[in-house]
Amino acid sequence: MNSQISLFSSIQLGNVPLKNRIVMAPMTRNRAEKGNVAGELIRKYYTQRAGAGLIITEGSQISSQGVGYPNTPGIYSEAQIAGWRKVVDSIHAAGGRVFIQLWHVGRISHPSLQPNGALPVAPSAIQPAGETVTYQGMQPFVTPHALELNEIQSIIEQYRQAARNAQAAGFDGAEIHAANGYLIDQFLRDKTNHRDDHYGGSIENRTRFLIEVVEAVVTAWAPGNIGVRLSPENTFNDIADSNPQATFNTACEKLGKYGLAYLHILEGVMLQHGKHRLDYRQFSDRFGGLYLANNGYTRQSAQAAICEHRADLVAFGIPFIANPDLVERFKRNAPLNEADRATFYGGDEHGYTDYPFLDKQQV
Ligand code: PHB
Repeated sequence: MNSQISLFSSIQLGNVPLKNRIVMAPMTRNRAEKGNVAGELIRKYYTQRAGAGLIITEGSQISSQGVGYPNTPGIYSEAQIAGWRKVVDSIHAAGGRVFIQLWHVGRISHPSLQPNGALPVAPSAIQPAGETVTYQGMQPFVTPHALELNEIQSIIEQYRQAARNAQAAGFDGAEIHAANGYLIDQFLRDKTNHRDDHYGGSIENRTRFLIEVVEAVVTAWAPGNIGVRLSPENTFNDIADSNPQATFNTACEKLGKYGLAYLHILEGVMLQHGKHRLDYRQFSDRFGGLYLANNGYTRQSAQAAICEHRADLVAFGIPFIANPDLVERFKRNAPLNEADRATFYGGDEHGYTDYPFLDKQQV
């Protein structure tokens, strides 16, 4: 028997059996239909990529307040649940598995995207530097409304309900998006969290919101169907922490108590592979469960990470945009299509479902 594990080995991910360890990373593509519904175009896109051991969908907002960009899908209305149901059924029929990513952007929004033009919300009233994408083009970020304690509780309830909705839509599981400068990350890191109550200050307090969200979601579903994504040193969305190793060591140790399906970490800074300052082994050791690594891995570096037990699974982003049959290409060591950055965010099927397969493919 060959006991050598590889990217192509199957794995039991919590409650979900996967045919290989190649994961499609969550990526915002801004192609949802009216009402933030995942429609036919999104169904086709993900079904084309069902060769992945696991697809993690683009971030999907848990409430109308959780939205941060035009045309992103949600998982809070009946129409959104019905839209996702068709996507999930189609992925399953093609032999794939899929987790939805549960998203609340916090301060990374704009009043023009919010219900009744309200201010975006955050742990503290700190305006992010820079501008954001709206239906009216780029606009400066605003100073968000600092959440009151009762408002924090209602957002935790929205996560719980979103997990129930995802289960009703037939998803295999849900990933809690706690990375990349969005709401949960805004609580975790001390540049964005200046609260003086039990959600701010100490690392213990800053990890409280994440843990309360996890507890709500795992009781609504089951720990073996839930993953969490973190990005301890990513600076995207004007975020930082004065001691990320300590902050995220604590977060990972706490997450390790729940028997979650996996911990997913964006290592280093988004789109800059191989420039890590932190010790990621400390995070995965403290978590203790399956570790899904991400950020700029190649076929070769991913294979090495799996064989050397530095990761249990590897998530690929941009290569999956341009190569619907990425797993097959990796198996054959075939050349990859180049991704067209101009069509990453928004638009139609161009640069979305029209990348060529090695072999003819119908979905
Ligand atoms: C993006 O829109 O570029 C984006 C969205 C969600 C992420 C990261 C990047 O987690």
